[in-house]
Amino acid sequence: MPYRISNFEEYKSEYQQSVSDPEGFWAEKAENFEWRKKWDKVLDWNFTGPDIKWFSGAKLNITENCLDRHLITKGDQTAIIWEPNNTEENSISLSYKELYEKVCKFSNVLINNGVKKGDRVCIYLPMVPEAAIAMLACARIGAIHSVIFAGFSAASLSDRILDTDAQIVITSDGGFRGNKKINIKEIVDQALDKCPEVKTCIVLKRTGDEVKMISSRDKWWHLEELSAGKEHLSEEMEAEDPLFILYTSGSTGKPKGVVHTTAGYMVYSHYSFLNVFQYNKNDVYWCTADVGWITGHSYLLYGPLLEGATTLMFEGIPTYPNAGRFWEIIDKHQVNIFYTAPTAIRSLMAMGDEWPAKYKLDSLRVLGSVGEPINEEAWHWYSDKIGKNNCPLVDTWWQTETGGILISPLAGITPTIPSFATLPLPGIQPLIVDSEGKEIMGNNVEGNLCMKFPWPGIIRTTYGDHERCRQNYFATYPNLYFTGDGCKRDENGNYRILGRVDDVMNISGHRIGTAEVESAINEHKFVVESAVVGFPHSIKGQGIYAYVICDFEFEDADKVRNEIISEVVKIIGPIAKPDKIQFVKGLPKTRSGKIMRRILRKIAEGEVSNLGDISTLLDPGVVEDIKNGALV
Ligand code: WT7
Repeated sequence: MPYRISNFEEYKSEYQQSVSDPEGFWAEKAENFEWRKKWDKVLDWNFTGPDIKWFSGAKLNITENCLDRHLITKGDQTAIIWEPNNTEENSISLSYKELYEKVCKFSNVLINNGVKKGDRVCIYLPMVPEAAIAMLACARIGAIHSVIFAGFSAASLSDRILDTDAQIVITSDGGFRGNKKINIKEIVDQALDKCPEVKTCIVLKRTGDEVKMISSRDKWWHLEELSAGKEHLSEEMEAEDPLFILYTSGSTGKPKGVVHTTAGYMVYSHYSFLNVFQYNKNDVYWCTADVGWITGHSYLLYGPLLEGATTLMFEGIPTYPNAGRFWEIIDKHQVNIFYTAPTAIRSLMAMGDEWPAKYKLDSLRVLGSVGEPINEEAWHWYSDKIGKNNCPLVDTWWQTETGGILISPLAGITPTIPSFATLPLPGIQPLIVDSEGKEIMGNNVEGNLCMKFPWPGIIRTTYGDHERCRQNYFATYPNLYFTGDGCKRDENGNYRILGRVDDVMNISGHRIGTAEVESAINEHKFVVESAVVGFPHSIKGQGIYAYVICDFEFEDADKVRNEIISEVVKIIGPIAKPDKIQFVKGLPKTRSGKIMRRILRKIAEGEVSNLGDISTLLDPGVVEDIKNGALV
């Protein structure tokens, strides 16, 4: 049976086999990796715990598969191409051998700083090769990395550091982002004021700006390297040892730490990478996601390196120094496979066709989309103007919790349909249920998307709180993994993702819980209560609409709005800024005190005439008030 699928018939037969004999299927795929010891059992699972174990008894180190095993055949081949934010700076290429050496050296830096197998290491870095090096070094010594997107605020950073119980943070003096400089170290200093357990902070020099160094805690990356040996034999890990923690938002409470483990994640991130993108030897592959998100983990770093691919990492933003930057980079590095988010596509589409028209873009062979539904207009623009109608466009659906892509076309192999994620990958068994959890069979149906069988990359737990993992994903419908997404299955069995059915928003492809934004807004001294919903936004996919009750009479509403926005930026980060803030006297609540978000969503969408049944409201009068003041 082929590891890499090469035609539609093969897809169908692989899919069939993966369902009739999942263990045999994945055991065979796992043969493509280097193991110190092979597994005793392919799979043990139940979704009630949940308790899911893949490849039990196996021993390995994922970095031997990402690095060591490529040294003989691909030592001189480029592993990472790094393109800096500033165009006057040179790009950097790291060969597999160079990357290996840097990872070994940094592994020794970590060890010299007392980091041991199983310890958590928080990484708060801009998009520089050292972010990849730090992650791989953690994996090499068996430490668990937790990368925190460098756009998050000090408060979000300290929350995550505390939740992981990390004693070490890896960061930089600052970062470049478009024409801005970000004071990363200052943010870390603020965060660490609240994290007394952090004894060590390793600081990479990136901007060269002067920063405060606390001598008992802060150490320069480059100085630490001076005393670190260059050889490092990787730690032997168990299949189910955690590889990383990555925080993501849910419908309630604070973000939770999704835990992925070593062997299953390795097999699934690579298998899905190779089959979805159909990477060919010597291709240059570019995923624009930040390493702070799961896409950066699975498809900028692990998937491509496991393949021995050349992966491009870009420090900057699509519009700096101008709206042609992505297209210029594609021509400059002769990128063959390009993977980005619908938000980026829509914002570049809005800049006009003249931008891509200036570039050849003839190296491109495959296009990918991820993170949110891609609307038909953006799909066609991407396919026509960037792909020149000559590149399959894979709309890849997945989640932080799934570790890898679950539903997507395989480039050039299975059909693509605008705005459809199409078909499940082999090993993936989706089903659609109604609100009672009853499976909706057949085609041309719509409902809530679940999975009935585990795949190797599935979430194992939420860090430090297994019950939360059960509650969130496995308790809504017994014996099913619930995705939180609504979807449709068309007459041919193709899936179209409709978006979240819970209180999670998707802002520019970033997942943000309404509850998180509300609790940040409520920190403002005038605010008594707030309710947040998403609304359709032409560039961001969804925008944030906040209904806010204040207990203080004020004259200057815009001033209070700005203060509330600053509060949210301070507590979460700029990605969670409300787009609209409407001051209201009351919120539509049921007699039991539950906010009826359905009504608020409708008003935010501008659909005020058809609000449905409001008779269960405690005070239907508030709806009139809200409608009259709606910001649409
Ligand atoms: C949520 C997961 C997967 C990596 C990036 C986001 C939405 C993701 C698609 C897509 C429609 C999509 C879903 C999902 N989503 N990809 N191709 N089409 N919706 O990961 O932050 O964990 O968010 O993003 O709603 O549940 P994430």
